[in-house]
Amino acid sequence: MSEKIAIVTGASRGIGAAIAKKLASDNMFVIVNYNGSEKKALKVCKEIEEQGGRACAIKCNVADETACKEFITGVIKQYGQIDVLVNNAGITADGLVMAMSDENFDRVYETNLKGCFHTIKNVTRQMLKQRSGKIINMASVVGITGNAGQANYAASKAGVIALTKSVAKEVGSRGICVNAVAPGFISTDMTDKLSDEVKETIGGQIPLGRFGNPEDVANLVSFLASDNSNYITGQVIAVDGGMT
Ligand code: NAI
Repeated sequence: MSEKIAIVTGASRGIGAAIAKKLASDNMFVIVNYNGSEKKALKVCKEIEEQGGRACAIKCNVADETACKEFITGVIKQYGQIDVLVNNAGITADGLVMAMSDENFDRVYETNLKGCFHTIKNVTRQMLKQRSGKIINMASVVGITGNAGQANYAASKAGVIALTKSVAKEVGSRGICVNAVAPGFISTDMTDKLSDEVKETIGGQIPLGRFGNPEDVANLVSFLASDNSNYITGQVIAVDGGMT
């Protein structure tokens, strides 16, 4: 197949949906991964198709090692290649560390960090054979700076950054690029939970004076997924309106 095949995890809404649409507009066939809402994932596929693109929705919980293996091997069997993997799926379970349950620490770590590990592990074998590929992992600026009330989330995203840099060193000789994107505050369901007061305080700390849009992140992912970024690997690039 000459058309590039891209997987975007957690693509039924928010940043993931914007990335799926952007990569489809870059002429890639996009696999819209979801875990919760099939309806929303199909809606993203429909929107892509209405714009002349191609996509399909596949369910997989990235925190589940076996499910991930089946998901990725199924994609390889059906489409014969994987050119781009965007590890976007992520969750939060905020709270101060002294009151944080083990369960809330593990849930966040298993989705945000181990989810990336599971997909990367299964995709790299195929990319090594192809001698090409782009892996883009969604980190966060709080994985660099830390954030009170988000010890679990920030630690998982710091892990994503270290995973990115390590895998980039392992697979670089085969022409595979692995990078991380570190969004600041982006307007999605995830940040909608913040109170207006918190949003205002954060807004005041952003030099560009506003929260970002999912499309601001998708534009960088599009560049990192393209041949225009072939000499960039092991990097963490912030999309944060100048915050960090
Ligand atoms: P969101 O909550 O709107 O979307 C996250 C998506 O991931 C949802 O579609 C959800 O169903 C999916 N997901 C969650 N667990 C999953 C699992 N186990 N398997 C498969 N899919 C799963 O969040 P948003 O804002 O679009 O975030 C996307 C990514 O960007 C996340 O990794 C998040 O941590 C990161 N990020 C977001 C920021 C923001 O300000 N919104 C800032 C920094 C990073």
